[in-house]
Parts: sequence; structure tokens; C-alpha cells
Amino acid sequence: MVPIAQRPRNGAPRLESRPPNPGTLGEYQQTIARFLEQKAHAFLIVDAAGDRPIGWCALFVSDVPNRRAVLSVLIGEKEYWGKGHGEDALRALIGYGFHVVNLHSIELVVRDDNARARRCYEKPGFQVVGGRRQAVILGTRKSDLLLRDLLAEEYVGSSPIPD
Ligand SMILES: CC(C)(COP(=O)(O)OP(=O)(O)OC[C@H]1O[C@@H](n2cnc3c(N)ncnc32)[C@H](O)[C@@H]1OP(=O)(O)O)[C@@H](O)C(=O)NCCC(=O)NCCS
Repeated sequence: MVPIAQRPRNGAPRLESRPPNPGTLGEYQQTIARFLEQKAHAFLIVDAAGDRPIGWCALFVSDVPNRRAVLSVLIGEKEYWGKGHGEDALRALIGYGFHVVNLHSIELVVRDDNARARRCYEKPGFQVVGGRRQAVILGTRKSDLLLRDLLAEEYVGSSPIPD
């Protein structure tokens, strides 16, 4: 018997884990344009004090009849992490999703070992509803992914009322 690693692969590429992606200003600007092409509700996050774009957030409507969407948010500039910008953006986007788009449920996936993100999502009330073990490989580190969701009636706290 030939060990799996030595079997001919018939030209199929061997999969490698991607390196960590730090996220640059240019990257998230391009990302927003791509999301808008996909008909997502996508927004640039701007630091009001410095009037500087620092990230993006988006809602992807995944199930129209059941009013469900997937949320994604990134503060691309590391120096702005942990200063409340993520929570502000999240609450503005949740308010927009529930009040303007009329969503019933918003879901997201987050790495289990990302304590900052976990805390940021727990505050408005996102609950763990499932997961995938070792679904993210960064170098030698393998992390679980958790699926969280938030129903409109469960939302904790307030959102800026969108115009
Ligand atoms: C995840 C992300 C959106 C959160 O935004 P943020 O502006 O950094 O977060 P906030 O400052 O609004 O909130 C972070 C919360 O976590 C807490 N926190 C920060 N670092 C923490 C840590 N190491 N352990 C536990 N809690 C931590 C903060 O104290 C704060 O909670 P508090 O308001 O109760 O004090 C942002 O950090 C980001 O985009 N990071 C890079 C990409 C990423 O990690 N994405 C998640 C994909 S899984």
C-alpha cells in the first residue's frame, strides 16, 4: 500500500494554508466595491474624529422569504482595534438591517479564539448556534469557527436610527 502523501495526485494541486491577512486600507476599499457588485448592503467605517476610513461592514441577504442575512465587519487598521469602533459599526448595521431592510435574523461566523471579536458580538446579543471544528488554519494554529445569530426581538441595546 502507498502512503497517502506519496500517491500521485494526477496534477491536482496540494492545498496549503493561507498566511494571516493583515488587511490594508486598499484591500477593504476594494472589498467594499466587490460587495456592492454582489448587491450586499456594504458601508465604509470612518473614524469620525480623524475623518479617516478604517474598515468596512456589510450585510448579505441570504434568504429573502425568511428575511435572513449574513453580517461581516472588519476594522482594517490595527491601531483602531479595541476602541469601540467595531461595536459602533455593528450597532449601526444591525439597526439598519432590522429597521430599514426589515430583517428577522442576522448571522455571522467568528473564530472561537478571537476574544475581541467574540466580546464585540456578544454585547448586542449574538448567540452561538453551531460551529465547525478547526475550520481555520493560520500557520500551525487551527481554530474553530462558531456560527452566531441574532433575532430582531432578541437585540440587546440600541442602534442609531438610520435616516
Ligand atoms: C473584531 C472587530 C470588528 C472588533 O472591533 P473593535 O473596534 O476592535 O471592538 P470594540 O472595541 O468595539 O469591542 C471589543 C470588546 O472586546 C474587548 N476586548 C478587547 N480585547 C480583548 C481580549 N483580548 N479579550 C477579551 N476581550 C477583549 C474590549 O474590551 C471590548 O469590550 P468592552 O466594550 O466590553 O470593554 C475588530 O477588532 C476587527 O475587525 N479585527 C480584525 C479582524 C477580526 O478579528 N475579525 C473577526 C473575524 S472572526
